[in-house]
Amino acid sequence: MDTFIEGLPKVELHLHIEGSLEPELMFALAQRNKIDIPFKSVDEVRKAYDFSNLQDFLDIYYQGMNVLQTEQDFYDLTWAYLDRVAKQNVMHVEIFFDPQGHTERGVAFETVLDGITRALDDGRKKLGVSSFLIMCFLRHLSEDAAFETLKSAIPYKHRILGVGLDSSEKGHPPSKFKNVFAEAKKEGFLIMAHAGEEGPPEYVWEALDMLKVDRIDHGNRSLEDEKLVARLVKDGTALTVCPLSNLKLCVVKDMKDHPLKKMLNLGLKATINSDDPAYFGGYMNENFKAVTDGLNLDKSDLLTISRNSIHASFLDKAAKDVLLGKLDTYMKKAA
Ligand code: HPA
Ligand code: ZN
Repeated sequence: MDTFIEGLPKVELHLHIEGSLEPELMFALAQRNKIDIPFKSVDEVRKAYDFSNLQDFLDIYYQGMNVLQTEQDFYDLTWAYLDRVAKQNVMHVEIFFDPQGHTERGVAFETVLDGITRALDDGRKKLGVSSFLIMCFLRHLSEDAAFETLKSAIPYKHRILGVGLDSSEKGHPPSKFKNVFAEAKKEGFLIMAHAGEEGPPEYVWEALDMLKVDRIDHGNRSLEDEKLVARLVKDGTALTVCPLSNLKLCVVKDMKDHPLKKMLNLGLKATINSDDPAYFGGYMNENFKAVTDGLNLDKSDLLTISRNSIHASFLDKAAKDVLLGKLDTYMKKAA
């Protein structure tokens, strides 16, 4: 099964580029930028990655970002991710970035955007990995701050396809950002939101009805509400599920309890993604393997998941058809 997973053509729809900052690169950038970090070794960093909830992780995640200063830093970060997933047969990625995590520290919006997009362009040319970029608002900050960030993004609409919502979920419902998402939609951005990771099903309803999302990130707790499940199934709304993230942040106690198989059985468009691979113990293949082991998934489950990801991506029909064709060819060879 491991070999099958490694060769399987994959699409990643839920990846925070800042969450792909490996400890080795964190040290290298700290040195390059002469920034102090509170760790003596790579080992010590990895030991600190022991989280009991989302906030525990976020505290370390925002601290890690401090080493990212220059356009080249953002290039190196993004290139390292693309180079790694290209080797895992990831064909297309839709990646999040957190501009406010940088502008709040005095790094210009353009510095961040230029470094990431230059690497995405190189990824397309040199690795054959296609990509879209999605900007997230930090939900622990105000809606006014999100409006400021949206304003910064308007001149770069051709480089940013969508707008998402991440960071501390509990106490920061999607409704808090109703106006800024309405404005983003008017400007032509696609819309998504993290909802139902730690927050209740009501947050998923709000994401659907108030923010008018095109996709739900995580969505695990939707399963607590039958009517919500029916709505998601009827609309064919995709969930970008992140198994190792769920395990590391104690959203599930054990991979054997992961709701992915149940989601598929209910007819939900669930996908597999890595979220913050440097912090949660793995990229796409590791996520596929961990959840396949935990839930005894078979090849047809994995085919369904890969198909769901292609359909849930923001690629146009022609590009989706190319990827579906690659998947078909692979399945025929693997049969
Ligand atoms: N949830 C919310 N915010 C985040 C996450 C996540 O899993 N990763 C990075 N920011
Ligand atoms: Zn996430």
